[in-house]
Formats: sequence, structure tokens, C-alpha cells
Amino acid sequence: MKPFFITTAIDYTNGAPHIGHAYEKVLADVLARYQRLRGREVFFLTGVDQHGQKVQQSAEKAGVAPAEFVAGITEKFRALWTKLDISYDGWAATTDAAHKAAVQTLLQRLFDEGQLYKAAQKGFYSVRQEQFLTEKERGPDGTFGAEWGEVVELEEENYYFRLAEHRDWLLAYIDAHPGFITPDFRRAELRNAVEKLSGDLCVSRPKSRLAWGIEFPFDPEFVTYVWFDALVNYISFAPGFDPQSKAQNPEFAALWPALHVIGKDIMVPAHGVYWPIMLRAIGFSDEEMPALLVHGWWNISGEKMSKSVGNVVDPAALADQFGPAAVRYYLVADIATGQDADFSPERLIQRYNVDLANGFGNLLNRTLNMAQRYRGGALAPVAAPSEDVQTLRAENFNDAAVYREKFDAFKVHQALEAFAAIVTRANVFVDTSAPWKLAKDPTAAARLDEVLVALVESVHLAATLLLPILPDKAHAALAQLQLAPAPLDAPAVLTASHQLGAPEPLFPRLETPAAS
Ligand code: MSP
Repeated sequence: MKPFFITTAIDYTNGAPHIGHAYEKVLADVLARYQRLRGREVFFLTGVDQHGQKVQQSAEKAGVAPAEFVAGITEKFRALWTKLDISYDGWAATTDAAHKAAVQTLLQRLFDEGQLYKAAQKGFYSVRQEQFLTEKERGPDGTFGAEWGEVVELEEENYYFRLAEHRDWLLAYIDAHPGFITPDFRRAELRNAVEKLSGDLCVSRPKSRLAWGIEFPFDPEFVTYVWFDALVNYISFAPGFDPQSKAQNPEFAALWPALHVIGKDIMVPAHGVYWPIMLRAIGFSDEEMPALLVHGWWNISGEKMSKSVGNVVDPAALADQFGPAAVRYYLVADIATGQDADFSPERLIQRYNVDLANGFGNLLNRTLNMAQRYRGGALAPVAAPSEDVQTLRAENFNDAAVYREKFDAFKVHQALEAFAAIVTRANVFVDTSAPWKLAKDPTAAARLDEVLVALVESVHLAATLLLPILPDKAHAALAQLQLAPAPLDAPAVLTASHQLGAPEPLFPRLETPAAS
């Protein structure tokens, strides 16, 4: 099977990481770990987007050089990914010398092939916002609003990428390849945007306006602007990529194409329009186009998180307060992939307590406790189990199949519902089979054996399904069970006698912090 090449957006380093950044990285990490669990080779790429106007401005405000400014913020991102156990294989930092060289080589090639050209643009320019304004920015009274500050008429030369000439190809590509975008409902949105596409894409800024960027190799008076630099990370940091040639190295070809995990705000136009067209211009075929997994947003009380509103949630502080497992679990369990969700610390605590402390954690603990108390932790395989045990096994296996199917469709929240169903079923089975009664009845020894085995099989499967979400906790659970991960393609059946380890609580309940 082809390796699984998964990327996230690279995060802007103009400010500290927030819960939205964390969600995307946890989502990609969980998908990467699921594929590894299934035995597939994975390359997981994430990183930071370090150039551009916003960074230059933030650095100026902070009174430090841009390079120093981005180094500090980059460190915050890396520390957060370590804290949240993000298992990335490649780190894409756009100030990296190899990345800059790749971008420059590609610019030169596209220029030589006539895909880039220089042209003058005359228009209205906001000095405060440092950008050209379009008719859209004009108010009903014909003037530009006060938020733009002083607006002057300006003529400026820049480099343009021939976007529009690929429009019809992209429309046909989208129609013929429904797998290009997940979820489905985003396809129409992208299609509409492509249909409206008319002009070419300005990919430069004069150095006098923006110095913090990658220089054009054939014109040092200009730097590349935002997307041309940032999008290229997906290939420049892929092992074996050769920017010189249209035909790719076997090492790169073995890995590519990637699945890009991105937020809904950067599908149109960047990832859905610019990127496939850039790749095509570079020489990629239709078969070499990447796929997009477009996720929704975490909002706060229905509102967008923003520094000015002051409702930005710091994921590092959250992990310190509740533990990284609670944060990881909440971020993928309480949102439907593709949809928005509302962040609330109360929900985080509730999901953790219900699903993990009272659910899985309790099941693991009581199963091990009973097995230790009644059998010294030694389990005997059961040759012909009772009907209820067989049903339990069959239903568990069915849930494992649902889990796989949902994960393969990137619906992590629904895969977790299958995990929770196994846990609930087993906890109910404890109550209905009442092992504490069986233990008192010498004639029920065989029944107690099969009940304990059935419970261990259930918790074994549940722990395995938890591996991609909470790797540390799931490994600790497997260590207590003294078992390797269960197979997902066949019922998890204990076929030989087995010695369990000692129980140790894994998910202490979280208390709601007292209102201050
Ligand atoms: N640097 C660009 C991406 C370049 S990719 C070649 C960028 N950076 S960002 O820091 O603004 O956003 C990084 C990712 O976080 C994006 O995918 C964005 O959609 C996502 N999120 C930002 N805020 C978010 C939420 N509130 N919720 C979920 N994800 C959000 O865009």
C-alpha cells in the first residue's frame, strides 16, 4: 500500500498558538496514528509559515528583527506540539534555506516557461493597511471607509502568475474527481469560486514595502508574497522532491500525493484554486493532485476567536490544567469533522468524566480488580462460551468495523462513538453478569471465567481503539492488561491462558474549577 502522506496548514508565526491551531494538529495526528495502527507507513508534515507582512508588523511592534521574532513564536508552537504529543515526521519552517532555494528554483522555472510575467498595476492603495483596494472596499457613498486610513492612487509593478488560463482545466478536474474535497458539501463552494475566476494572481511585493520574504531569483527588488511561499512547503519538505525537474524522483513519487488537512477559511482560494493550478504549472499530472480535508472552526459562544475580542483559548494552559489527554480527546470527540463547534471548558470536563473516567477508565479498573481478586489475575480461555458472551463478542467486532469505516472517512467523532459503545456494552455486562455473585457460588466457576475473559477482551479492544487518540493512556492500559494491541480485522479472542497486570487508575475524575 502507498504510504499515507498527511500535512496540516503551516501556522502563521505572528502570534501565539490557539485552540484552533491545536485542533487541526490533533486531528491530523489522530489520523496519522490510526494509519500507523493499521500498519501503513506514514509521513506527517506540519510546520510554521514565517514570512509576510503580518510577521514584519508584529516584529516591528515588538521591537525585534523578524527572524528573532519568528524564532520565539516557532518555539511556542514546537513546545505545544510536544506537550500534545503530535507525532510529526517532518517540520516545515519557511525560513529554512532548502525551502527558500526550492521556491526560488520554481519561480525561475515558471518565469522561464512564461507562467510568470511582470506587469504594472494602477489603483488605490491604503497606506495604513499596506494593500491595494478594490471596488469591493468602496462604501455606498463611493469613498473608502475610515478603517483604510489615507488612500492614495499608486502605480506599482509586480509579478503575476497565469492563474486564469487554467480555469477550465480546474473546473473539469473538480467535476471528475469527487475525492478531491472532503466533506462533499464544500465542493459546490469551491466550484462557484473557480467559475468566477478571472484575473491572474499577484505573487510579489516590492521590497520597499515588504522586506521579510523570499527574494525573486531573477529580480532582487521583489519578494514572493504569502501563498506562493507557504503552499510550496508541502512539496519542498517532502523527502526527495526535486524543484528542477518536471519528472519526480522515485522517493518523492512513492509518497506523493498528500492529504492536506486545512481549515475552511483557507480552502478558497488558496488550497482549492491556487495550489492545484500551481502544481499543474510546475508539471504535476491530474493523478498527482493532492486531496483536501477541510475542517470547521472552534468558536467561543458562537463567536469567532479573536485577539481583539479577548476570547482566545490557550491550549498549553488548558493542557496544564486538565492534562493533555483531556484536551486531545475533547478536540476530536466533540466536533464533527467539517462542521464548526463551540468550545467550552465545562464540556471538556464533562466529556472526559463521562467517556474516560466513568466509561473506559472505570471498565479497565473494575475488570482488572475483579480478575485479580477472584483469579489472581490469571485468565483461562473458554472453549464454548455462553450465548451472551458470543453476542458481546460479535457486537464488539461490529463496532470495531464501524470504527474503521468512520476513521477511513475521517469521521473521528463517529469512530469514537463506536469506541464508547464497546465500553458501555461491557460496563452493562458487568452489571448484568454480576461477577461478585458468581465468585460466591462454587458451581459458577466456569461462568465467572468466561465473564472475566469477555470483559478483558472488550477492554483490550477498547484500549486498542483508543491508541490513535490517547497514545500514552492506551499504552498504559495495554501494559496493565499485559497485552499487545488487538487485531481490528478479526474478533479479539483470548485463545491462551493469560496473566494480567495490576490495576492502576488512569483517568482520575476532573473537578469543575470553582467559579472565581
Ligand atoms: N499560514 C496560513 C496557512 C498556510 S498553509 C500553506 C494560515 N495560518 S493560520 O495560523 O492562520 O491558520 C492555521 C490553520 O489553523 C488553518 O488551517 C486555519 O483554518 C486553522 N484555524 C485557525 N483558527 C481556527 C479555529 N478557530 N478553529 C479551527 N481551526 C482554525 O492560515
